Amino acid sequence: MINNTTQKIEIVKVQHSKINEVDFDNLSFGKTFTDHMLICDFKDGKWEIPKIVPYQPITLDPTARIFHYGQSVFEGMKAYKDVQDNVWLFRPLENCKRLNISSKRLAIPELPEDYFMEGLKTLLQLDKDWIPKSEGNSLYIRPYIFATGKGLHASPSDEYKFIIVCAPSGAYFSGKVKVLIEEKYSRAANGGVGFAKAGGNYAGQFYPTQLAIDKGYHQVIWTDNNTHDYIEEAGAMNIFIRINDTLITAPTSDRILDGITRKSIIDIAKDEGINVEIRKITVKEVVDASNNGSLKEMFGTGTAAVISPIESFRCKNQDYILPELENSYGSLLKKRITDIQTNKAKDTFGWRYKI
Ligand code: PLP
Ligand code: COI
Repeated sequence: MINNTTQKIEIVKVQHSKINEVDFDNLSFGKTFTDHMLICDFKDGKWEIPKIVPYQPITLDPTARIFHYGQSVFEGMKAYKDVQDNVWLFRPLENCKRLNISSKRLAIPELPEDYFMEGLKTLLQLDKDWIPKSEGNSLYIRPYIFATGKGLHASPSDEYKFIIVCAPSGAYFSGKVKVLIEEKYSRAANGGVGFAKAGGNYAGQFYPTQLAIDKGYHQVIWTDNNTHDYIEEAGAMNIFIRINDTLITAPTSDRILDGITRKSIIDIAKDEGINVEIRKITVKEVVDASNNGSLKEMFGTGTAAVISPIESFRCKNQDYILPELENSYGSLLKKRITDIQTNKAKDTFGWRYKI
């Protein structure tokens, strides 16, 4: 039941499940979708009660504002199944809050928290057989909102859709990544939308990222838009840099997404007794540390990739190789966070959320 209403989420079930067509031993990321999706419309100034329907295409007017003015925000989350078949989410209210923070910046109306939470829970209960149990796999969940209102006037839409789709998924990256430190392009600027999970932020990354891929790198390390001197994010991940035994990550700002994995890793690292510094870090400091041997590790953090170790980085036409470590903080922290997420370890932080 949705709070403050007497209405229940309406469910239309599929007649035939597609689950037997899926090879759960060879899952890629975000390519196969579960039987059902959640859909919720904003019309006449309010969000309607969400519905769950068979996964299906949607029809939009050619002038829907999303096509012209890009009003769209999204989230990324995962559901996990433990050995007893219990289903868990990780800090889902943080995603709900961040969706509304992103929406506010894009002039999209706030979605009531219980529409998000009740809708998500109902969808997961229905499609729980799709949640992979095997190591490294999970159900990737994509909640998103976009403008559906008609018309070419460059102003906020009067209608929106909130949708949740779910994809049983494997790893986002298959191994360590080679990155290129960006010196020309930027993903975000002061006063802009970098802190929001706005669709357009990702569109703006594709071209510079493709240039990096063409040169043999997997990802771009984003630097500040003003001087390109400061390290900010690693593609669609936050970034951590270990110099000697200190783990450094840039403070969040207008330009940096407040990653849920990032803040969890900061807390777990502190709990492990690791010295964590949340401060600005220059490209020069990282290059100097690599040259003098004090640079031990770099890794990206995010829901999709969890912790993605960086093998090497390129800066001003030179490649710098990270050492192979026996006591990698990245490996230790990845194990601790995934053990909490999958109910293999005690959750002293209270982050796990049972469905
Ligand atoms: N930074 C950007 C730009 C992202 O798109 C993401 C992905 O969600 C992250 C960081 C990591 O955020 P989170 O850990 O909440 O998934
Ligand atoms: C996530 O980590 O969930 C993201 O949203 C990154 C995405 C662009 C795959």
